[in-house]
Amino acid sequence: MAPHILIQDIAAHTGTEVTLQGWIADRTDKGKLQFLRLRDGSGVIQAVVFQKDVPPETFDATRTLTQESSVRITGILRAEARAPGGFELAVKSVEVVQIALDYPITPKEHGVEFLMEHRHLWLRSPRQHAILRACARIIKAIRDWLDNNGYTLVDTPILTPAAVEGTTTLFETDYFGAPAYLAQSGQLYNEANIMALGKVYCFGPTFRAEKSKTRRHLTEFWMVEPEWAFGTLDDYMDVAEQFVSYIVQSVLQDRAAEMKVIERDVTKLANIKPPFPRISYSDAVDLLKQKGFPDFVWGDDFGAPHETVISESFDQPVFVHRYPTDMKAFYMERDASNPKVCLSADLLAAEGYGEIIGGGQRSADLEYLASQIEKHKLPRAAYEWYLDLRKYGSVPHCGFGLGVERTVAWICKLDHVRETIAFPRMLEKIYP
Ligand code: 4AD
Ligand code: MG
Repeated sequence: MAPHILIQDIAAHTGTEVTLQGWIADRTDKGKLQFLRLRDGSGVIQAVVFQKDVPPETFDATRTLTQESSVRITGILRAEARAPGGFELAVKSVEVVQIALDYPITPKEHGVEFLMEHRHLWLRSPRQHAILRACARIIKAIRDWLDNNGYTLVDTPILTPAAVEGTTTLFETDYFGAPAYLAQSGQLYNEANIMALGKVYCFGPTFRAEKSKTRRHLTEFWMVEPEWAFGTLDDYMDVAEQFVSYIVQSVLQDRAAEMKVIERDVTKLANIKPPFPRISYSDAVDLLKQKGFPDFVWGDDFGAPHETVISESFDQPVFVHRYPTDMKAFYMERDASNPKVCLSADLLAAEGYGEIIGGGQRSADLEYLASQIEKHKLPRAAYEWYLDLRKYGSVPHCGFGLGVERTVAWICKLDHVRETIAFPRMLEKIYP
């Protein structure tokens, strides 16, 4: 019996008989000759069926194969310069697993609305396949870099009693008669974990309930959050620029084929390396005033159009630091030389992509944090444990959160985050 192999491994099996199993991407009927394009998730190969080389039943079965029918095909692998990919399978036998009838996604153009309704099938198309492969490589780079640089993985709960990033964007659920919320961020728990482990990260799904319809917004998204003791705002920016550069270069190295499929021009990505430019919020406001937003007021938050203008002004991702204290979350440390601004920074991706990282230095001061909790109208009882961290060996510390889907959207240069995740959750979208 011929060995079952994956299409990605065909080069090592040239000249031998093998069995491939997968789906028919498409079939061309040339009378006595059938060309099949077979995909198995690891790659795509052309298979040729000559009428004279196979029993009549096999040839007839081949002619019934429709787009997305599932098959096992046995044949001899050979190098063939004219075949896409450089290899071809000379078919000896075909086992039909299932004939797919009326596959809804045909090679013609479909609208995004239709494709999103058929997301469970759309995933099979080459472009979506390539994006998911890029995403998986990004996630591996994230974990590799942190694991290799002394961060211990400690994941944080998804069911939580309180807000991290403000109460207006919480998904509420019933926790045995009391309200609980889906995690917006693991940060507060990270802050406890660093006092035990020094450097940690959590990496999980996070949830935001704002009714936003922008191309950057998901209600459920994946965030990696490194946090470490004795770190400052500058330390955070030093770490984040190394981290992001490593992620980008890992994708370029290992996912060149996928970048080609999605037609990503990678020349700009190839230049991504530290140091990244750093500008203060105040300087960013001046920049906006010169570049089309003359009425922008100091103290206002940046919307997507503002971030786009700022990030398009640089070739590298850019840190915007020292946002107004009143604009940011309750836990931010104030700048000692100007308490109106805090030691926060966002990283805006290049090419107009906007924020992919938010982070900063956390306040280490018990009194200040207690007053912030009150000012932000947060229920103090739910934060007593967090305040304890400032009573028992409080230290300066920092951390950040990188959103996976926005990072994928930037690296793959996609118009919308909905294509970065297999089953996106968005306003008015929870099917499939
Ligand atoms: O800026 P955010 O809200 O920061 C935090 O949650 C901090 N507690 C993180 C930390 O310091 N540990 O979110 C961080 C990142 C954003 O820069 C963005 O990439 C992503 O998470 N993000 C979203 N991605 C998709 N859809 C959304 N609705 C997102 N909200 C945030
Ligand atoms: Mg943010």
